[in-house]
Amino acid sequence: MTAMEESQRGRWGSKVAFIFAAAGSAIGLGNIWRFPMAVGQNGGAVFVLVYLIAVALIGFTVMLAELSIGRRGQKNPVGAIEHIKPRSPWKVIGYLGIFGAVCLLSFYSVVAGWAVGYLVKTASGAFRGEITGQLTDRVFTEFSANPWQVLFYFIIIICITTYVISKGVKGGIERWTKILMPMLFVLIVFLAIRALTLPGAEAGISFYLKPDFSKLNGTVILYALGQAFFSLSLGMGTMLTYGSYIPKSDNLVSSAGWVCFSDTLIAFLAGIIIFPTLFAIPGIEPTAGESLVFKVFPLIFSKIPGGLIFGVLFFLLLTVAALTSTISLLEVPVAYFVDERNWSRKKAAWIVGSLAFILGIPSAFSTGAVPFLTNLNFIGNMNFVFGNLWLAVGSLLICLFVGFVWKVKNAAEEIYSGNPRFKLRPLWSFSVKFLTPIVIILILIFIKDMVS
Ligand code: PHE
Repeated sequence: MTAMEESQRGRWGSKVAFIFAAAGSAIGLGNIWRFPMAVGQNGGAVFVLVYLIAVALIGFTVMLAELSIGRRGQKNPVGAIEHIKPRSPWKVIGYLGIFGAVCLLSFYSVVAGWAVGYLVKTASGAFRGEITGQLTDRVFTEFSANPWQVLFYFIIIICITTYVISKGVKGGIERWTKILMPMLFVLIVFLAIRALTLPGAEAGISFYLKPDFSKLNGTVILYALGQAFFSLSLGMGTMLTYGSYIPKSDNLVSSAGWVCFSDTLIAFLAGIIIFPTLFAIPGIEPTAGESLVFKVFPLIFSKIPGGLIFGVLFFLLLTVAALTSTISLLEVPVAYFVDERNWSRKKAAWIVGSLAFILGIPSAFSTGAVPFLTNLNFIGNMNFVFGNLWLAVGSLLICLFVGFVWKVKNAAEEIYSGNPRFKLRPLWSFSVKFLTPIVIILILIFIKDMVS
């Protein structure tokens, strides 16, 4: 690739810039909205335990696989695989990822829109005075059933995402993440401390951290694995695409490690906020699902002096965290159309952004606005199919491709650049070739019996 081409594709400004951008993709609604919801619905602490194991053994493996394909291929998922293995059917990994990214973006942006709506609600004083679980329950039900409101905030998210992507990688993504991600972290630590000191917090802590192994079953494992892929942005070519912007001198292993660590830390802390609060202030069930965190966060703000300001700040930062993820989702199809079809960035961004908007409409109307879609639990099913299954299949194919087609030896070659020792190679090799594929295949085989 010529220097000219290199500069057109864009590069991260530095190693830290990549880690921030990748962590920006990983950290989002997955950590703060989806993780506590999955914990609440899957038996609490036992889910947390399986999740941590899944991140360390499987998530890290897939992330390193994606980064090495991306950096070797120097392209979007389809182009990168074509570069490594010309004219092979494995390109399907890229197409599946591109399609999945648009579908995931569609419902994800709806939920991100809820965060914007809650920002406005909190600022306008909807949660002042003594707040109860019954009240936050009612506020959410009314909010999410109002089609115009939901649609309005959903459009805002899609437009900001599309605008940032149309401006390109460096100017767009880097600038957002560097300041705002650390701010989110500080705020979350603060809220976690407050939640832990609420009277009655113990029941929540034990639900969250004391595993009850009688609740362990296949469904818990499936959801924990799916959540690991979702939260780490794996299985759909996002990390692969971001990897293509990493300089050859960077250490892919430590970069992957940092992204996994920071993402898991934020999710873990989100749980520390949600569960003690939930048990200390009655009215909401841990199994509340999609609405859980929107009903619980306003409760904790009512227990803090100056809660209004903290509430506004929280929903603002949550919106930004969600945006750094939507941006990474839109980047996958846009990189494809720019690299492979010679579209301009602007055209690709607006066309794909509009498509995600249209696809998202049924999700937007499925939380009370349209009874038919609500009964179908449209948004919940999108979340299950594209947030769990699609990512699991994508991750499986990525591991098989690296393990048996490109071969670990060649992938390791790419990893040596920037990390000449690569001490984890034997373990990673075992996990890419056997452990991860076998676990995913078993889960997929038994899936019929799990989802009833
Ligand atoms: N990881 C993001 C989150 O946790 C969501 C995401 C999934 C982004 C897959 C890109 C690809 O919110």
